[in-house]
Amino acid sequence: MTKAFIVGHPIKHSRSPLIHGYWLKQLGISGSYERIDVTPVDFGNFLETFHERGFAGGNVTIPHKEAAFAGVARRTERAERLGAVNTLWVENGVLWGDNTDVLGFMANLDLSLGTGWEQDVDTALVLGAGGAARGIVAGLQDRPLERILVANRTLAKAQDLVGGLERHGTARLEVLAWEDLDRALPGSQLIVNTTSLGMAGQPPLTLDLARAPGRAIVTDIVYFPLRTPLLAAAEAHGLRTVDGLGMLLHQAAPGFERWFGVWPEVTPDLRAMIVADLEASR
Ligand SMILES: NC(=O)c1ccc[n+]([C@@H]2O[C@H](COP(=O)([O-])OP(=O)(O)OC[C@H]3O[C@@H](n4cnc5c(N)ncnc54)[C@H](OP(=O)(O)O)[C@@H]3O)[C@@H](O)[C@H]2O)c1
Repeated sequence: MTKAFIVGHPIKHSRSPLIHGYWLKQLGISGSYERIDVTPVDFGNFLETFHERGFAGGNVTIPHKEAAFAGVARRTERAERLGAVNTLWVENGVLWGDNTDVLGFMANLDLSLGTGWEQDVDTALVLGAGGAARGIVAGLQDRPLERILVANRTLAKAQDLVGGLERHGTARLEVLAWEDLDRALPGSQLIVNTTSLGMAGQPPLTLDLARAPGRAIVTDIVYFPLRTPLLAAAEAHGLRTVDGLGMLLHQAAPGFERWFGVWPEVTPDLRAMIVADLEASR
């Protein structure tokens, strides 16, 4: 029986065991995927010993993604670019790390909007410069955009993010002051919230969406609640919206394939199960 895990601290709210458990059952695979709570002090030891404890690999979440990056022997190019690892596995005795957050975000956009959505987008406006923002900006750099603006409450963090990513593709990366957000809206055809604003228990993100272009796409990576105040406001303005749950579901697939050998499908049934679980915990 193949065993995998998600390691973090705290870890009890993670939906990943539900996602992988669903796929194991659907595909009739004899395997397990368990939550493991490991403190930062113990993480180095966990990395060194999980394989001998019988695990094929697993996911890494807050606060260990940078420590996992530093602790693996080999990294994919994607992980290298992002400085963070969220997926671990062992190949020929070598500990590998990948970062699948970026794939999850882009797959969610592609599948929700249809490939070619970038044709309507010159400028992407990314709000936030935390752990999730970096992968999202890197994913957008791979698309044929002209400009990616990064705005963050703490300007220095947006500057660090932009300064830390090398130029890839066509897009110019620029920092935008938080106070100038509304002014940037008319020229932004893709608006991405990566801040925690709008999450249950947090204040909403309020943007003057009347200023956004009529065909703008608004996406939020916050998925609890699924319909954030930002997405509700975007719908009210007739804008196209993409919620954050798809990112969570799609980032899980590459790890599942590494550990269990089969690429799993993100189905409407899987999504409905996670939505029901989110609803039940409100
Ligand atoms: N859908 C998915 O698969 C997925 C994946 C990862 C994360 N997420 C969600 O994305 C959100 C961010 O995650 P993260 O890991 O990037 O968190 P993080 O590293 O803690 O970053 C939080 C970001 O939110 C900003 N922020 C917090 N409070 C704010 C406020 N009152 N006003 C303005 N900005 C504020 C922070 O700005 P400062 O720098 O100024 O503090 C920072 O940019 C969380 O809700 C998380 O659940 C979803």
